[in-house]
Amino acid sequence: MTRILAADPAAIAKAAAILQEGGLVAMPTETVYGLAANALDGRAVAKVYAAKGRPQFNPLIAHFGDAPSAVQHAEFDARAHLLAQKFWPGPLTLVLPRQASSAISTLATAGLDTIAIRVPAHRVAQQLIRACGFPLVAPSANPSTGLSPTTPLHVARGLGAAVDMILAAGPCAIGLESTVIDLSGPDAVLLRPGAITVQQIEDVLQQKILSATKDHGHKSPGMMEKHYAPRVPLRLKAVDVAPGEALLAFGSLRFMGLRGGGAAADLPESRLRNLSESGDLHEAAANLFAMLHDLDRPEHSAIAIMDIPESGLGIAINDRLRRGAVGI
Ligand code: TXA
Ligand code: MG
Repeated sequence: MTRILAADPAAIAKAAAILQEGGLVAMPTETVYGLAANALDGRAVAKVYAAKGRPQFNPLIAHFGDAPSAVQHAEFDARAHLLAQKFWPGPLTLVLPRQASSAISTLATAGLDTIAIRVPAHRVAQQLIRACGFPLVAPSANPSTGLSPTTPLHVARGLGAAVDMILAAGPCAIGLESTVIDLSGPDAVLLRPGAITVQQIEDVLQQKILSATKDHGHKSPGMMEKHYAPRVPLRLKAVDVAPGEALLAFGSLRFMGLRGGGAAADLPESRLRNLSESGDLHEAAANLFAMLHDLDRPEHSAIAIMDIPESGLGIAINDRLRRGAVGI
């Protein structure tokens, strides 16, 4: 049985001891729960890949307590310093050239000459990293390709005994993984949209951000198409609900009907969730994975999802939904 412990100082000290010994701890961050291991310990990192069933070529993010402690592992140029100053601690991951002298496990960076780093803002993640005194790799704490975990229970259900301890601190405030931006070359390239938007980054850098999916030939190893997928198929931009389907709504249900007759608002609780009744994208992001977890039940033929505007945080939400909808 995995131990789920409320993240008080004693539990954090115990978690640090487990990590020191090469074990795995699920830690809360402001984005999603991460499956943490000592980034300097190749064997511990190997356990992370095994627990997630993750392809070995998909590198991990190294988490630090602050920017200065990351500098010995990654080469910061002026742009990286600017973004770090503006957005750390917070939901932004920078891909930078790896320092040749870095002791981070080469398995964590999948043998690449770049490294992804982030300074999480969550109080518990900060305290845990400080208690450890070494950086932590932490992919989202879910089986590879599945839904990301935003509560301790999601982690327990997805990873079970593969994780030695779950540090519990309630649901994650943001609910979507960090924005990933590649600064390892002259272009700044968005590898994954997240809570920090392209506009915010462009405003700081005064440089156009390229999109890895739209602009030529740039790829993140983690950009495999199918990802964030529940077991039940997703149907996007739904304007009605088919028999057998569950509905993930966004905004008002007033004009949403059931195929064959009836109003979506009358669906039973087991078949209906609303990401945000008022149409608030931050609320929707925070609810996204938890509500998909709720509706991901074998008795549903699919999850119909109402249209979500492609602006602000909606870009990151739609990115996760599109990948979750890709067939096997
Ligand atoms: O919000 C987050 O970032 C969460 C929390 C736990 O911190 N972590 C997370 O990690 O989402 P993960 O491993 O699920 O996603 C890391 C992403 C992957 O798409 C991976 O391919 C990319 O970052 N990545 C990591 N290292 C990279 C590198 N050197 N070059 C390009 N992409 C990299
Ligand atoms: Mg992930």
